[in-house]
Amino acid sequence: MPDFDPRQITDAVLRSYEGAPDPRTRDVLRRLITHLHAFIREANLTLDEWMRAIDFLTRTGHMSGDTRQEFILLSDVLGVSMLVDAINHQALAGATDTTVLGPFYVGEHRVMPHGTDLAGNAPGERVLVEASVGDPAGQPIAGAAVDVWHADTDGLYDSQKPGYRLDTPHLRARFVTAPDGRFSFRTVVPHAYPVPTDGPVGELLRAGGRHAMRPPHIHFVINAPGHETLVTHLFAEGGDYLDSDAVYGVKPSLIVPMVPHDEPTWPDGTPAHGRWYRMSYRFALKAAAAAAADAHGRTAAPAPPAILATQATSKEATP
Ligand code: BEZ
Ligand code: FE
Repeated sequence: MPDFDPRQITDAVLRSYEGAPDPRTRDVLRRLITHLHAFIREANLTLDEWMRAIDFLTRTGHMSGDTRQEFILLSDVLGVSMLVDAINHQALAGATDTTVLGPFYVGEHRVMPHGTDLAGNAPGERVLVEASVGDPAGQPIAGAAVDVWHADTDGLYDSQKPGYRLDTPHLRARFVTAPDGRFSFRTVVPHAYPVPTDGPVGELLRAGGRHAMRPPHIHFVINAPGHETLVTHLFAEGGDYLDSDAVYGVKPSLIVPMVPHDEPTWPDGTPAHGRWYRMSYRFALKAAAAAAADAHGRTAAPAPPAILATQATSKEATP
């Protein structure tokens, strides 16, 4: 039976995984073990600290399910989500920048007609979002599926509220782009809100002396055949916390003016009930071939997160 000292153990563990049949698994495991052992050695981790880490991860798992994903949140507040995003979605001239998916995408958005008011009677000022989807050269993409979701003025997503049901979405919809690539909707003006702090990630933020706020934004996931799925947000220009997003998700190209309008009606002639805002944006999707060349020369596009795969089979209601 081998009697390892702290340095020999790393070599012994590395050797024991050298026979992993899949080369990519073998390579990732080698790096994981090397860095994990170096971290533990460098931090001089105590047994008590290691047990606390295991308890933290256990509770993170227990808190994760269909409508709350504490592991995604953990990855977000550690900057890992944006790092993976940066490696896998390198900037391409003319293509829209990506950002975090976040834990509140439920992948079951219902198709709604263009111009729909997502807000109903919800309190808060209103904004008209007028956007188009095209390629980086400006060619419109018709029939793209655009999933949209955001928090209400209380800073909560519908899926965070008691009694939430997938079939009665609030501030969520899917729009299918017109032949000219356009789509539009009305909703409440987004506000800054905190990421959930009632779980292990909240403990981490407090221990790190960090705030939990995200700047005002609307989420988008855009799918079109032959193109890379675009996961992004639009941030409201002038919003709070643009410089200190709790999840590091802000990119300047995604900050959009909210232009105030005092006309008594919306562009479609319906009464506006006070000041309203307009947010305009042109989304540009990379071709699938460009996506495949991302990630430092890996040849195939990485598999989408499972949660995105679910939307390929999501139910589509009649517009
Ligand atoms: C969100 O914007 O929904 C979000 C993103 C990352 C972590 C928490 C929330
Ligand atoms: Fe959000």
